[in-house]
Amino acid sequence: MALTAVAACTNIDHKFARPLNAPMSPSAPPHATPIIGDDFLTAVGPQTPGGQYLRRYWHPFMLASELQDLPVALRLMGEDLVVFRDRAQRIGLLHKHCLHRGTSLEFGIPADQGIQCCYHGWKFDIDGTILETPAEPANSKIKHNFKQGAYPVRELHGLLFAYMGPPEHMPALPVLDTFAKDEGNQPVPFRFHMPCNWLQVVENACDPIHNVFLHAIVSSQFSDAFKVLPALDFVDTPMGFLSMATRLVNGRVFVRASDIIMPNIGQFTGSSNKASEDSFRIGCGRTRWVTPIDDVNCHYIGYVHFSPKYKPYGNLTPDDLGVDKAGLIGQTDERPYKERQREPGDYDAVASQGQVANRRAEHLGTTDRGVVMFRRLLAKAIQANLEGDTPALPQPMLWDGKTRTFAHEYVLSVGPDAAGASHDALQNFGRAAAQAVVSAQSLQMGHDDIEQQTHQKVLQLLKEWVK
Ligand code: FES
Ligand SMILES: [Fe+2]
Repeated sequence: MALTAVAACTNIDHKFARPLNAPMSPSAPPHATPIIGDDFLTAVGPQTPGGQYLRRYWHPFMLASELQDLPVALRLMGEDLVVFRDRAQRIGLLHKHCLHRGTSLEFGIPADQGIQCCYHGWKFDIDGTILETPAEPANSKIKHNFKQGAYPVRELHGLLFAYMGPPEHMPALPVLDTFAKDEGNQPVPFRFHMPCNWLQVVENACDPIHNVFLHAIVSSQFSDAFKVLPALDFVDTPMGFLSMATRLVNGRVFVRASDIIMPNIGQFTGSSNKASEDSFRIGCGRTRWVTPIDDVNCHYIGYVHFSPKYKPYGNLTPDDLGVDKAGLIGQTDERPYKERQREPGDYDAVASQGQVANRRAEHLGTTDRGVVMFRRLLAKAIQANLEGDTPALPQPMLWDGKTRTFAHEYVLSVGPDAAGASHDALQNFGRAAAQAVVSAQSLQMGHDDIEQQTHQKVLQLLKEWVK
């Protein structure tokens, strides 16, 4: 078999560049599985518009603790890859099949620098450079003419992130303000597998009504406060929107607003708030990415935040989290089938929509407007990327270099005057308060100060509302 020539490849010198005419992976055609429905939005392969858009971002794909001395074969965005640590503890993410004659590098030997293929000893650095072709003549030019496909990897708070896009467009790894909220916060990594396309998992977070039925009425996964039907709203943020529910519970207004950050980050507050005492918090309990494995599988992966001040998930401990450990019932298929039928969770609702939810067979209602909003944002972003625009990226804020985010949750007493508040009044209040949370991003101060200032503003809005 002829090797893949790169003589005409102009980016051979770029770190992590893939030879221009190299196949993405011999065993991973762009559409390994038939695509059903709206593949403009759902397809993730390297040749697809959606896949090219998603490749402009860093995505977490495994826990750092999963990568020990042996290489690990994995699939990401429809490509077959191998991740390894060399003996200098540098991490490489290479195309799975050795470019010599295709042996999987999962059987490779980590070296002092890079990894050595087990079959004929070719050695690759973590950026795909061929370091050695030991059985070839000393004057062989092979190692100068070819590169193994490779992607950069970064480690952050115990998760490994990959960037699979054009090297010249590689953004900074996003550091969200919630990673350090509050002081002493411990982000604890977790991941589990979903056997379906990534988009329907993201859409689940754009749909606050499912918390009422799936999580509170049908099951008891969330507190009873979530049984109350809320007013919904979807408030713009710099990289997406807040998917929010505003309720009146026991003479209090109870707001839960989740961050939907393009393309696949969600941040959520807890599920155990009973709305029985006043509280105010800008921040979240969980940050998660939905990272495509291929068109019909994805990782639900991220951090649960263990803050000294905020305990949004009852008695959850770091030991409850990890690989296939989500810390919340119903997120995986580990329970017996009949139990899942009696008390279904997100896994059951979302995976049962099908490998790729058939959006052409849907009958959407007014409460699905968050889902529609996300699809529109995604379609626009994919199209803009196709046309050569730079996708929106998380921007660091000036005061601390972190990216400001907006998930929030509060419970505030409103007294009897608000008991008969209309749906519209409730919605208007929740929206105005959320806009106050978002506009506070321009304040050049610490997170706690922003929270205090916004709290006062929301109390003022509340006074005006019940007046
Ligand atoms: S197949 Fe890898 S060195 Fe030959
Ligand atoms: Fe859910």
